[in-house]
Amino acid sequence: KIEAKVDSLLAIMTLEEKIGQMNQYNGFWDLTGPQPKEGVAAKKYEHLRKGWVGSMLNVRGVEDVRKVQKIAVEESRLGIPLIIGFDVIHGYKTMSPIPLAESASWDMEAIRKSAEVAALEASAAGINWTFAPMLDISRDARWGRVMEGGGEDPFLGSKIGVARIQGFQGEDLSANHTIAACAKHFAGYGFSESGRDYNTVDVGTSTLNNMIFPPFVAANKVGVKTFMNSFNVLNGIPATGNKMLQRDILKGDWGFNGFIVSDWGSITEMIAHGYAKDGKSAAEMAANAGSDMDMESYLYVEHLADLVKEGKVKEHLIEDSARRILRVKYELGLFDDPYKYCDANREKTILGSKENHETVLDVAKKSIVLLKNENKLLPLKKEGQKIALIGALAEDKNSPLGSWRIAADDNTAVSVLEGMRQYKGNTLVYAKGADVSLGNTAFVMETKINTTDKSEFGKAIKVAAQSDVVVMVLGEVGFQSGEGRSRTELDLPGVQQDLLEEIYKVNKNIVLVLNNGRPLAITWADEHIPAIVEAWHLGSQSGNAIAQVLYGEYNPSGKLPMSFPRNVGQVPIYYNHKNTGRPIEPAPDIVFWSHYSDQENSPLYAFGHGLSYTSFEYSNFKIDAEDSSVNTPKIKVSIDVTNSGDYDGKEVVQLYIKDLFASVTRPVKELKGFEMTSLKPGETKTINFELNAETLGFYDNDNNWIVEKGGFEVYVGGSSDKTIKSTFELK
Ligand code: IFM
Repeated sequence: KIEAKVDSLLAIMTLEEKIGQMNQYNGFWDLTGPQPKEGVAAKKYEHLRKGWVGSMLNVRGVEDVRKVQKIAVEESRLGIPLIIGFDVIHGYKTMSPIPLAESASWDMEAIRKSAEVAALEASAAGINWTFAPMLDISRDARWGRVMEGGGEDPFLGSKIGVARIQGFQGEDLSANHTIAACAKHFAGYGFSESGRDYNTVDVGTSTLNNMIFPPFVAANKVGVKTFMNSFNVLNGIPATGNKMLQRDILKGDWGFNGFIVSDWGSITEMIAHGYAKDGKSAAEMAANAGSDMDMESYLYVEHLADLVKEGKVKEHLIEDSARRILRVKYELGLFDDPYKYCDANREKTILGSKENHETVLDVAKKSIVLLKNENKLLPLKKEGQKIALIGALAEDKNSPLGSWRIAADDNTAVSVLEGMRQYKGNTLVYAKGADVSLGNTAFVMETKINTTDKSEFGKAIKVAAQSDVVVMVLGEVGFQSGEGRSRTELDLPGVQQDLLEEIYKVNKNIVLVLNNGRPLAITWADEHIPAIVEAWHLGSQSGNAIAQVLYGEYNPSGKLPMSFPRNVGQVPIYYNHKNTGRPIEPAPDIVFWSHYSDQENSPLYAFGHGLSYTSFEYSNFKIDAEDSSVNTPKIKVSIDVTNSGDYDGKEVVQLYIKDLFASVTRPVKELKGFEMTSLKPGETKTINFELNAETLGFYDNDNNWIVEKGGFEVYVGGSSDKTIKSTFELK
């Protein structure tokens, strides 16, 4: 039915109107003021009236969305509604943890619900399309955008992407509380050289097929409505002008029938890449390659009609792009009611509701990873303790909101100080110790971290010396990660490391709570500090979540979705690496094996690592090769997990495989299953997994999915580096 409606509409559209659907404008101008008379804003107004704009981004709030929608619907010839896009990356007004943090929950239902709340709020504020989830597999903690993704593993990353898409899009896209999702960035952006944003990407076929593509394949399978291409060059061709990626693979082989939006200005950027000689040829290349919508390059609207007339872009390609965009608008129900997301009452009641805060608190607790807990320093006793709380991030109500939080109100997160103050049985004394955040803004390059000022150290040292336990909240400010926020150091910024060491001299009972948007290299802390809690940027409810974990009201269950390096020189470091021809240390005095002379190969904290206040034991590992034929393999794996400690707890049981010999070499370990189980002290549960052709195979270098005969190792455990092993063979 939708197809017939799209057909009839296309039949009456002019070429310019079809191209108009492919044009997306940013809406940062004052929509409350008079209509602009000159400049870019005036041109945008005029184009809206002519029906030359298909979408706007960054227009938000019912009032403003209604205004632009009204121009498109009531003043343009055909009255085609706009699709309104926005970066709803981890919440709209009520902020969830940053995506990397949520990924540490390994809890797909919590992640789905968090995206559902984001969609609920965004849709109530007039938005119907989010530029999320980011599905870029990322191995390089220097890259600021690792905060926005699911980490280093394609299997976990695929599940997370699917959960987030299902949360955003729901079961009925035409409902007024669901929004279209966008799988981004297609493709390879997470492999930007040296972790520097927007940088070149060079990856081989096997990495592209087996590491980078899987989350995008999964997203397409569950019906994600849109894709975004990426800023980077992939093997010499900008992704935006890459026909192989967009037309051949995504729209061809994978049969994607939604539309692809360019990244911001990425069509123009093909000139700087040295690929297109001018704006007109950039538009030609992008359209021919399959980029359906131009985000803020202004090049489609300017050149595509001429390019069609000159025969350089075929009209049927324009028609195909317009069709894809119109289809999504119909699916969203925008033609039935263009103002369906513009209900001011709904906006008032839904944004920041109590229920939304409960949902983000739940996922925030689940996102926390207990990295270390010696001598059972945690959980904290609830009474009779003198606790020193130290670090400027402890009172910071901005940083926990993280990066990418355009619609959130500043300083609205619950701080750790506020969270901990609710536990009145202890005496809590706060001292800043050092400033960390002076210029915490989204767009300006001035995340000033105090690098010299130690004038506040004295007070903090005094407070620490007089306390039973010291809780130190250290790490990165909210905008220190995210787009354009690459770093060459992965340590605690500024004077925070010095502060930590000074406090340690007077009180060794330190609980280090990390706030950060990427893995940090905290080797000194790991060697000295008894308890370390990874608390990321946890969103609006950050302080409550952290306090509940510190006081044992929630027993931490998170597991790292990215390896933490010992130092920046190890980066990129990831658990699913290849073996090399010289993998094993033969003897300490022999140098010719694949290693560093000044540091171990292993990470500080491995992928999948995360402790609990209780302990778990694994036993009774069984493999039952129900069908060991290479064509229809069915391998059943079971393991008993026992809670051997004193607290109720949750464990993420992880299953990895290693394909021992293959026609294209395979990683030393690959995650192929995980299950979260809740156990009471003394309780044992049997966890079952099944391996089949979908999990035992891989893409060869001709893009075929193959399963090969031979031996496999299977590993099960609570972390990629703490597993027990068994084997089977496919015949
Ligand atoms: O969605 C983002 C993208 O991830 C990076 N560039 C800007 C886009 C729109 O804001």
